[in-house]
Amino acid sequence: MTLVADGEAHSFKPMKLAVLISGTGSNLEALLSAIDRGELPGVEVVAVGADREAEGLQHASIRDIPTFTVPFRGYSSRTHWGEALLEALRASEFDYLILSGLMRLLPKQVLDAYPNRIINTHPAYLPEFPGAHAVRDALAAGVTETGASVIEVAPGVDDGPILARERIPVLASDTEEALHGRIKIVERRLLLQVLKDLQEKL
Ligand code: GRF
Repeated sequence: MTLVADGEAHSFKPMKLAVLISGTGSNLEALLSAIDRGELPGVEVVAVGADREAEGLQHASIRDIPTFTVPFRGYSSRTHWGEALLEALRASEFDYLILSGLMRLLPKQVLDAYPNRIINTHPAYLPEFPGAHAVRDALAAGVTETGASVIEVAPGVDDGPILARERIPVLASDTEEALHGRIKIVERRLLLQVLKDLQEKL
């Protein structure tokens, strides 16, 4: 893809993404809107999946991006769920798999299928506050700063290589929702930067 800006031609490598979500998908929506605005030339989301009937799938379907649901509760084991998830993912070709609020650990067969190609955002300054309740845990710990991180997914819980992270102050008046809202704004910006970096390296 070539764009002409300031009289100069810039080439952008095509980069295809699949995204997995569990919830409202506000970070997914921010990514898709950034693509719509032309902020990530060459980047395309080719599939969005969820482990439940996630409200956020609509952000993809209204843009005619294929969606799929592989309900975790529909399978007798994580391994069987992982097999079904992998089959759904394999229906699309993509360069990176983005976990954008997927509230499940990915099974081994999915991790093995996409080595070094799965990216996760996390609402804390990793390695601080890993796990599913990072914002609540930071508030409970009484810290004055937490943060946002983008990591490469490894088999453990939020312990893969850190690709980007930024500090965010905790305010005395913060509720979990208010703090998480400010963190997500930073998560979204960090993810766009990481995607641009990864695109350069393709
Ligand atoms: C983000 O903070 C993400 O890091 C965490 O879940 C949140 C996703 O929110 N794992 P949303 O569904 O995109 O609004």
